[in-house]
Amino acid sequence: MLYVVDHPLIKHKLTIMRKIDTGPKEFRELLREITLLISYEATRHIELYEIEVETPLEKAKGYCINDKDIVIVPILRAGLGMVDGILELLPNASVGHIGIYRDPETLKAVDYYFKLPKITNNSEVFVLDPMLATGVSAVDAISKIKRVGAKRITFISLISSPEGVKALEDTHPDVDIYTASLDRQLNNHGYILPGLGDAGDRLFRTK
Ligand code: URA
Repeated sequence: MLYVVDHPLIKHKLTIMRKIDTGPKEFRELLREITLLISYEATRHIELYEIEVETPLEKAKGYCINDKDIVIVPILRAGLGMVDGILELLPNASVGHIGIYRDPETLKAVDYYFKLPKITNNSEVFVLDPMLATGVSAVDAISKIKRVGAKRITFISLISSPEGVKALEDTHPDVDIYTASLDRQLNNHGYILPGLGDAGDRLFRTK
């Protein structure tokens, strides 16, 4: 299922990120902030356990999340820009990394890095990539994460294309997608329109 988290604060911040003249410092800060805001919604389903606490007046029933069983997996490299935002909400989560790029000739996913912490069928896994474009990397990353035993996976992006959402929903219908915007389409080079350009280049000032 696709959830577009279009809160006014997110729309405002995303608009600044789209602008061609927004520099890397502001771009990084906004990506972190929007990721935190989307993650607030994307974590709505995580399980709680009950505890009892003492208030200054009496005992009260309370609730805790088990964030030690939460695994965050950024897809390199632009997904790195989202890690700090979600870690602010889930400071005890583990972080794995997956490096994938799309071969421009074959258009297939090429993996160059895969390192995940321990994953069980109870782990809540959040896969991060700011741009859900063709969906090739997201589909491939999630297939690999499932192969090591994950059963509960959520995908978080900043901007998604209709093509990427379809690819992900067709292959992994059990994975919910949280995004700040569903944009119009992909161009011939696999970039999202209107989008914000190359998220990795803008984060790391590599162009
Ligand atoms: N990756 C990006 O960084 N931007 C796009 O528009 C598509 C893929």
